[in-house]
Amino acid sequence: MTAASGLDERLDVAAFPPGFLWGAATAAYQVEGAAREGGRGTSIWDTFAHTPGKTVHGDTGDIACDHYHRWPRDVELMRELGLGAYRMSVSWTRLQPAGHGPLNPIGVEHYRQVLEALAEAGVRPLVTLYHWDLPQALEDVGGWPARDTAFRFADYAALVTKALGDLASDWVTVNEPWCSAFLGYGDGKHAPGRTDLRDAVAAAHHLNLAHGLAVQAIRAGRSSLAVGGSNLITDLVAATSREEDVAAARRVDANNNRMFLDPMLHGSYPEDVLYLYRRQALAELVKPGDEEVIASPSDFMGVNHYQRLVVHAEPADAHLGARSVPAEPATTSLGWSVRPESLRNVLVRVSREYASLPLYVTENGACFEDYVDPNGRVVDSERITYLAGYLAAAGEAIRDGVNLRGYFAWSLLDNFEWAEGYRKRFGLIHLDYGTQARTPKASAYWYRDLIARHRQTSHREAPAGRAASRAG
Ligand code: FCB
Repeated sequence: MTAASGLDERLDVAAFPPGFLWGAATAAYQVEGAAREGGRGTSIWDTFAHTPGKTVHGDTGDIACDHYHRWPRDVELMRELGLGAYRMSVSWTRLQPAGHGPLNPIGVEHYRQVLEALAEAGVRPLVTLYHWDLPQALEDVGGWPARDTAFRFADYAALVTKALGDLASDWVTVNEPWCSAFLGYGDGKHAPGRTDLRDAVAAAHHLNLAHGLAVQAIRAGRSSLAVGGSNLITDLVAATSREEDVAAARRVDANNNRMFLDPMLHGSYPEDVLYLYRRQALAELVKPGDEEVIASPSDFMGVNHYQRLVVHAEPADAHLGARSVPAEPATTSLGWSVRPESLRNVLVRVSREYASLPLYVTENGACFEDYVDPNGRVVDSERITYLAGYLAAAGEAIRDGVNLRGYFAWSLLDNFEWAEGYRKRFGLIHLDYGTQARTPKASAYWYRDLIARHRQTSHREAPAGRAASRAG
């Protein structure tokens, strides 16, 4: 990598403590491809993406970024960027094709090679066990609305950490259970495409349970590993101070945020969540002991943050009685809001209301209409502005006392953006899907320079910083 970039001087790298992890993230189905190689089984995303009309242009993850074959180059790119960490997910169906039984040795060998290469490159892996690719065989017997799926996940988590835990010390259980449950089983926009709120609520509880069971199963096998969940935390504001709008914002918060954070970190579902889902019998789904399992102590919590939503009361909405719209400016190419202070808000909130445990921003980023220009460059100035703003907000959260240990940009590579297919580009690195050429965007060079500057600064300041924290 040779291109130079100017660093946005507004971003104060001194706000980030020495040892802060600078990372980027991907997920297996979004980047790997090789959908029918190496004994990989079919997941709900294979089935869904191959169902006509479910994804834009009928895009599927069959080939994606071909990361399954091209990972050596991608690890090299990480090294060139100076990334300290890489958040990746392992594909459930590559490791356990039908969701039960022993692990597939080809899958295990594949991930061992990737993890070994990361170690050689000095890049610390944070491995997610479930980033939405449920084995189709488990969906066929009920999917996440079936309680047994949580136990299947815990078995898988134990086997995978036994097979790979010597090469990765940090593990995320489930990624964004809200999306899996409510987009997958409620409005059907994600796999498996079911549309029954009762199923969505059951899925949500069983994903929470899966998290807790997995934490226990992993600890029982390898007590040295650090384990936590990753939740999508949305910054929600009521459209007005009218009581109806304030109550609507509370209901959306109950559904999107507290339905997951409270059982994981406070040990019980909030009263308003139980009330909201009384007709879906949430209270009856929660068996004695479930809440204790879900609250099994984590070592960290992952915060995925993208949006500030403005919530209006909407009596016609049968689910939450609410209409949520992205806060202005909503200038990404998905129409998502660009409000950096929201990241500070959600980090401060999680830290104050829930946990003093270490936090990671496990995803944050934006998609824009990126293209390779005639000079062979991708000048994604909007992404640089976005990252500088959100990272400055993360730095402010640290100054506010948040125990933030790392930041993972979504995403390392442009990739298969679920139902939106390939047209939405979130990567620091541009993908030409015809040739599989990788072109680091200007934002990748910017991030590289930021990481290097932080490394220099923290080397200079480390002794003073340690003394100050002892004194404090
Ligand atoms: C998150 C997903 C991630 C990616 C980003 C844009 O909800 O976890 O896989 O698609 O959104």
